[in-house]
Amino acid sequence: MTASNPSPKRLLVENLAWSNDVQQRDPTYFQRLAHAQTPTFLWIGCSDSRVPAETITHASPGDLFVLRNIANMVGTGSNSSSALEYAVCVLEVKHVIVCGHHGCGGVRAALLPENDATPNVNERIEPLRRLAHFHRKELDALPTLDARINRLVELNVQAQLDVIGHSEPMSRARKRPKLHGWVYGLKDGLLRELTSEL
Ligand code: CO
Repeated sequence: MTASNPSPKRLLVENLAWSNDVQQRDPTYFQRLAHAQTPTFLWIGCSDSRVPAETITHASPGDLFVLRNIANMVGTGSNSSSALEYAVCVLEVKHVIVCGHHGCGGVRAALLPENDATPNVNERIEPLRRLAHFHRKELDALPTLDARINRLVELNVQAQLDVIGHSEPMSRARKRPKLHGWVYGLKDGLLRELTSEL
């Protein structure tokens, strides 16, 4: 959908067209999918509209169990812990992917002074400020803000994997899923592997 100012109605019309397309190609597709979900992956990504998990991986409904929030973080709250628990302990996904992206606005905000207009975002990204402070020597040595953002994006992906790896749901998993850290490049549409368990 490339219209510059699409309306909600447009989304509904596009949905009808999509549903018709899918059913024409595979008449029992939705019936099979409605029966149960058995995703292989838990995808933890940023809410950024430019990083839609299914689109950039050519994934289909049923493939990814998705948690997206500002700067792809797994916090202590029930939002992320419940998604992690359900994916790991109930759905028994085989892989957990944390995907950050270059130029992340949430990560950028953590490197700039607090914005009084966004108190909830400020609270949300507080762990990122602490992470940036912890790595300030390495970050300060980088030549530009963009370079510092992109490095902090990587450090954040690694930090989230550490949190997940030591989380309570992971300790209860019948078969521990493999953890993967990826970073998506907005300028080339490519995913880069930072870290991957074999
Ligand atoms: Co982002």
